[in-house]
Amino acid sequence: PASRIVVVGSLNADLTIYCDRLPLPGETLHGHGFAVNPGGKSANQAVAASKLGGRVSLVGAIGDDPNGTMLLDSTAHAGVDVSRVRRAADAATGVAIISVDAAGENSIIISAGANGTLAPADVDAAVDLFDDAAVACLCLEVGLDTVMAAAQAARNAGATVLLNLSPYAEVPQALVRLSDVLLVNAHEASLFLGKEAIPGTDFDAAEWEPLRKQFADRGLQRVLVTLGAHGSVVLDSNAAGAQPITFIAPTKVAAVDTTGAGDAFTGAVAVRLAAGESLAEAAAFASVAAALATTKKGTQAAYPDAAEVRLVRSSHARRS
Ligand code: RIB
Ligand code: NA
Repeated sequence: PASRIVVVGSLNADLTIYCDRLPLPGETLHGHGFAVNPGGKSANQAVAASKLGGRVSLVGAIGDDPNGTMLLDSTAHAGVDVSRVRRAADAATGVAIISVDAAGENSIIISAGANGTLAPADVDAAVDLFDDAAVACLCLEVGLDTVMAAAQAARNAGATVLLNLSPYAEVPQALVRLSDVLLVNAHEASLFLGKEAIPGTDFDAAEWEPLRKQFADRGLQRVLVTLGAHGSVVLDSNAAGAQPITFIAPTKVAAVDTTGAGDAFTGAVAVRLAAGESLAEAAAFASVAAALATTKKGTQAAYPDAAEVRLVRSSHARRS
């Protein structure tokens, strides 16, 4: 059966400074510690999925520079097939400038570099990967035409299209129609729906019903909304015999660095969907994987394997 996860998108070198609090406009602060780590939402998603046992291929572009080599090494070392990561001759590897505060909260600016050269032709050159793909993982750090081409290739092959609407951008309705599962945080959800805010942090299914309906009206039957330390909400309008709105309680951890936690969540959902789980089951697993990812600095090196996630889940099950 189809089991491959194809991740199409970005790879970045993450240049991170840790600080007590994030700077205000015009302000210079002393930070402490500087690290260059492998990142980029798609590379992170691919590594997260592979570490959790998925069979993962990454389609992307890097520059012909040391950062590109670092990213190739980190993804390949995690077991990701990087045969379709292209070295661009005349663009630098993508970069993210990241600040992380004492609470593990971050702010990020990215410069696309080679990610901006990823084109529909790269998807065409990788179209064979979709033949046995169960899930395609997409985000918005590469051009929309490329994301569209990947979604179409996945749809043609019968793979589930998992779209992470991050960093937020308005997307054509054609892309929404090609997406089987939408993954957004609270901020992205409210931008997408054109709402001031989404329901408060005390979960109440009745408050989420109008959102479920709005997403469904836009053609999105299956949506995951992540709420950071407050958990996540599964909106599954066609959950067969199950409830359409499910709250996933957060896994309480001491967060050190939340960078890339959403990517860990996305990669984990891809793995569990590829294994045939329901959206709610996949989200419950992913929620633990994402929480564990925040307990260490950086992104990819902080991602857990399946055994670590299972251990936390069984110890929580025993306690409750
Ligand atoms: O989601 C986290 C990622 O966003 C970082 O690794 C950074 O590269 C940016 O793409
Ligand atoms: Na982390």
